[in-house]
Amino acid sequence: MSSKTLTLPARLVRHCLHKPRVVCVDPVRLYYGSPQAAAGSAIRTVDLRSDTVTKPGAAMRRAMAEAEVGDDVFGEDPTVNELQKIAADMFGMEAALYVPTGTMSNLIAVMVHCRERDDEMIVGDLSHIHVYEQGGSAQLAGVHSATVTTLGDGTFDLDQLISKIRHGYPDPHYPRSRLVCVENTHNIQGGRVLPLSFLQELRSVADKFGLAVHMDGARVMNAAVALAVQPSVILQHCHSVSVCLSKGLGAPVGTMLGGSKDFIQRAVRARKTLGGGMRQSGVLAAAGKIALSDMIGRLEEDHRNARRFAQALVECDPSLYRVDLSTVESNILRFCLRDRQMSPAEFCERMAGVDEEEVKALGQGVRVLMFPHVGGTVRAVWHLGISEEDTQLAIQKAQFVAQQHKQHENAP
Ligand SMILES: Cc1ncc(COP(=O)(O)O)c(C=O)c1O
Repeated sequence: MSSKTLTLPARLVRHCLHKPRVVCVDPVRLYYGSPQAAAGSAIRTVDLRSDTVTKPGAAMRRAMAEAEVGDDVFGEDPTVNELQKIAADMFGMEAALYVPTGTMSNLIAVMVHCRERDDEMIVGDLSHIHVYEQGGSAQLAGVHSATVTTLGDGTFDLDQLISKIRHGYPDPHYPRSRLVCVENTHNIQGGRVLPLSFLQELRSVADKFGLAVHMDGARVMNAAVALAVQPSVILQHCHSVSVCLSKGLGAPVGTMLGGSKDFIQRAVRARKTLGGGMRQSGVLAAAGKIALSDMIGRLEEDHRNARRFAQALVECDPSLYRVDLSTVESNILRFCLRDRQMSPAEFCERMAGVDEEEVKALGQGVRVLMFPHVGGTVRAVWHLGISEEDTQLAIQKAQFVAQQHKQHENAP
């Protein structure tokens, strides 16, 4: 709904809400969808679609403007080199490489770990690599995937993993199991933090069967903050990791790929093949340095706000929302609607729309943007651009939508 809705007579709005439109939206398509048309300036927007919507602040922009640069394909950009050194130290790994995106970073890791034509990787069936990266590992790297079932906490069953390993290799019928990927925090499963004990056990299985472990750690800094440990405590169990700077850490661009010196030397070649060798990329890396030095500590605030919102949904009267608070571990929240009459897509549309009733009841219009998500859920993500006050506005809006829904349900 746009600001135009505000000019509609309340009676008409009520009439429309009496007859909810059936909206059929594929949540996977909406995941990367665009927001509705911007509303009038009197209306506040709280954008909980993703932590990728963060924008660089003044300090980052200044650092970018003043960055010392060189040709990074020649290895001569001092700011990129510094960022790579900071990241490697932080990850407890020998080396790190600055790459444009998380998708490219994961693909490079697959290419480097699975170098033989018959190599296979094992991934969670709800992992970002498997669901949201267009099958790039098969399409571009020629690597076949076997899947294990992603569990609610983002882990998978290690016995199932063992059963998926091609024990028959080198019988020519089988590929060779070479790599296993994990995701931490787990995006589709609602920001779940992988337990350290799981990672430790996974690594011992991987070592036993000669597999490399790659972590899609797009949000591993959220995991570190949630567990109150250094990132290296998590990453000691992995051979390589991909860490996004452009999500909760607020940089406009960039992902750090970490691993051994040999792994990173090969990754430099793969990055160039994929067109990811950038030149004076120190302009971007300067923002990345601030992301790693200044932005990790504040992730705690996102976790707190996500939890506050989740708690408010649980306490909401009338009770429209179902949330399992024990699953709210970081900055991503998934919840369900108790009333199946209202689809997640319709709910998101109501949260994003503003009508006269709302302005009258709350004194202000608030558009809250969220996405319908996998499994009939709604997903909301907290980040740098969302304050405690924004969270409170989102809570009020969710309460208002629940009340309005109940009123219209009870109306004759
Ligand atoms: C878990 C995970 N991995 C990888 C990516 C890909 O990152 P990018 O958008 O930088 O390609 C994302 C993006 O949302 C993600 O959530």
